Amino acid sequence: MMLRAACAWMLIATIGVAAPTPLPNWRDARPAVGVHAMVATEQHLASQVGIDVLKGGGNAVDAAVAVAYALAVVDPCCGNIGGGGFMLVRMNDGRERFIDFREKAPARATRNMFLDRNGNVVPGRSTKGWLAVGVPGTVLGLETARKEFGSKSREELMAPAIALARDGFVLSDGDLIPFRGSSPQDYSRFAEGKMPVVGEVFRQRHLAATLSSISRAGADAFYRGPIARAVVAASDLHGGILSLDDFKNYSVEESTPLHCSFHGYDIASIPPPSSGGIAICEILNIVSPYPLARWDWHSAKSAHYIVEAERRVFADRNADLGDPDFVKDPVKQLLSPAYAATLRAQIQPEKATPSTQVKPRLSIRVHENDDTTHFSIVDAQGNAVALTFTINDWFGAGVVAGETGFFLNDEMDDFTSKPGAPNMYGLVQGVQDDIVAGKRPLSSMTPTIVTRDGKLAMVTGSPGGARIITITLETLLDALEYGMNAQQAVDAPRMHMQWLPDRIDYESGAFDDATMATLRADGYTFDEIDSWGSAQVIVVDPRTGTRYGASDPRRPTGAALGY
Ligand code: DON
Repeated sequence: MMLRAACAWMLIATIGVAAPTPLPNWRDARPAVGVHAMVATEQHLASQVGIDVLKGGGNAVDAAVAVAYALAVVDPCCGNIGGGGFMLVRMNDGRERFIDFREKAPARATRNMFLDRNGNVVPGRSTKGWLAVGVPGTVLGLETARKEFGSKSREELMAPAIALARDGFVLSDGDLIPFRGSSPQDYSRFAEGKMPVVGEVFRQRHLAATLSSISRAGADAFYRGPIARAVVAASDLHGGILSLDDFKNYSVEESTPLHCSFHGYDIASIPPPSSGGIAICEILNIVSPYPLARWDWHSAKSAHYIVEAERRVFADRNADLGDPDFVKDPVKQLLSPAYAATLRAQIQPEKATPSTQVKPRLSIRVHENDDTTHFSIVDAQGNAVALTFTINDWFGAGVVAGETGFFLNDEMDDFTSKPGAPNMYGLVQGVQDDIVAGKRPLSSMTPTIVTRDGKLAMVTGSPGGARIITITLETLLDALEYGMNAQQAVDAPRMHMQWLPDRIDYESGAFDDATMATLRADGYTFDEIDSWGSAQVIVVDPRTGTRYGASDPRRPTGAALGY
């Protein structure tokens, strides 16, 4: 299957658009400083909306709801009401919640819906057009969070987004990167298919009307009212399988986050249906005995052990995990110290293990018969939100229903179309993640909150498809292990290994020449890719409580704003 150009910044190189590369002088980077609060998002107007809510007395969850709706307007490739995601909340009294508003497969979805008569994956069927669309969760997810933890009315929190859609906002160069990285048919139902230009006031009249109706009538407008009807009508017209019942039956799941510890820190992250929390914790468990800081950042030794851990963990992730409502996820086993020790023992010093020799805990069994955005918020009381949400590819499935004004996701591609066949992110997955009506596709999204001795220490996460896991991991290691400030941790060039393909992807500057030579001699192959991800990170000083924020320069329209 051809790997499509995904939203992730990683693939910009493949489609020939100049990508913002990490700053060569990233070691001098300094974070934004906030005495009281911090909001880091990948679009500066959305960050401002968050700060305004916090200054107006709203808490971190209020700000998150307002920011998420604002991103649906000012980051139209990626912020969304046509997709889904995960919110991690940690209140200052220690209450914590994982709010899962991941999309679900429509009731008429079937395991082999993306295969042709010969059992081969039909290129594009799971990524573009109406069959690619999962039932969106964002609106119910945000409303659930607001009711449970927020203090402001929906109308108040949605007002800035509605104004930005109705009155427009001035496009900066960074806002156009997703347009340049997509083909015009992906956004043709939008901006009349014209590439917007820098300086243009970008108005979205239809989206303003849609948001206004949600503001007035709540989630019902989306799931039981005119919006559901418009989406289903368009889906029917274009060969899709969404139904009104899919919308009516959509539910948000709530549970507790997944926890692990690393060098005195408590890491809270996302359990299945994301693989992200398990993967990060499994990698940290494997590498925790190694003196990474003494070996130094991206030295041959550090890189070797981290990459070998990633290789083994991605093999497990791809074979073992799926929506816990449908399959049994071996969470305990994967996170047990004994299992980490077993995997650690397989790593040979100074020698890459070929991925063909790394078998997942379960094998990838077969049946018998970029787009995303993350933001981080810490308020003046110390409440924290990490939220990653997505329509998967840039502009999702490239479809908009009638005059609703928003793009629908292509999250169905995160399922296993065919065991052993790579998806858009090159992930080779198994039957645990097969397509079943009502099931949520396995995700890599990893919104994460770190504490130390019960005190908030860090909020992190990123978009980037499969690379979300390694981007988030590196922000954690950079800040917690290598002692970088928040902006250095975000800016530092990245490396990534996902079992298959068997190679280290890296950004320019990730390794010096001598390190590359050593790793090559150890058996590694490399692929340099321009840049990827858009990490939004907040680090809290344990002594003073000062919030340090960092927005990713790879998405140059973002901002970390504090006060
Ligand atoms: O849930 C997932 O893992 C993917 N749908 C995320 C997609 C993504 O990060 C695209 N962005 N750049």
